[in-house]
Amino acid sequence: MSKKKKDVPRNESALKAKRISASRSEMAEVVLPAMTNPLGKLLGGHVMHLVDIAAAMAASRHSNSYVVTASVDYIDFRNPINIGEIVTLKSQVNRVFHTSMEVGVKVFSENALTGERKHTTTAYVTFVAIDAITKEPRPVAPLILKSADEKRRWQEAGARRKARLALRYKKRHEKD
Ligand SMILES: CC(C)(COP(=O)(O)OP(=O)(O)OC[C@H]1O[C@@H](n2cnc3c(N)ncnc32)[C@H](O)[C@@H]1OP(=O)(O)O)[C@@H](O)C(=O)NCCC(=O)NCCS
Repeated sequence: MSKKKKDVPRNESALKAKRISASRSEMAEVVLPAMTNPLGKLLGGHVMHLVDIAAAMAASRHSNSYVVTASVDYIDFRNPINIGEIVTLKSQVNRVFHTSMEVGVKVFSENALTGERKHTTTAYVTFVAIDAITKEPRPVAPLILKSADEKRRWQEAGARRKARLALRYKKRHEKD
């Protein structure tokens, strides 16, 4: 029996299990006037844009693949980020399913003058790996879990997947 297109990995090495640390990514930038609201706070939409980019870095590092954002199921804004501050985003793959991965992102603000640092946002974003040729979802390498925190995040990601797939938009031909 012939395999379905999306079950054929183009790059076998891309399916070798990887440590979570291989996906860990970090990016930083200074908050400039064009990114802020009239109160001089970083726009929530800009934070979401940065979250998407930081999360995509972790997903593509883990999968060695093009990735698309499938859903964002949680994002909060705990503290504002002020103009002139440094915004840092840290991301890592929490769990791999088959062709999709959940990435966790944490955002921090830093006042370089005082050294004060705050955790401002947490977000969970799901990405699907896309085959460069067929443009179809493609399988992703499994994760190697080491620390207790990694195992806890993996467990929690499973519960979030249930909730997000229950809310998933259904195509017209799909039954409720
Ligand atoms: C995401 C997308 C690739 C899924 O394609 P699809 O034909 O529905 O594929 P499938 O039903 O086979 O699902 C593929 C994977 O996506 C996951 N998925 C699909 N919709 C999802 C959603 N709303 N939330 C989380 N995961 C989702 C499925 O669970 C499956 O994961 P698994 O293989 O790990 O179990 C497709 O809907 C798409 O291209 N969406 C647009 C993406 C986009 O443009 N993003 C913004 C720019 S990057």
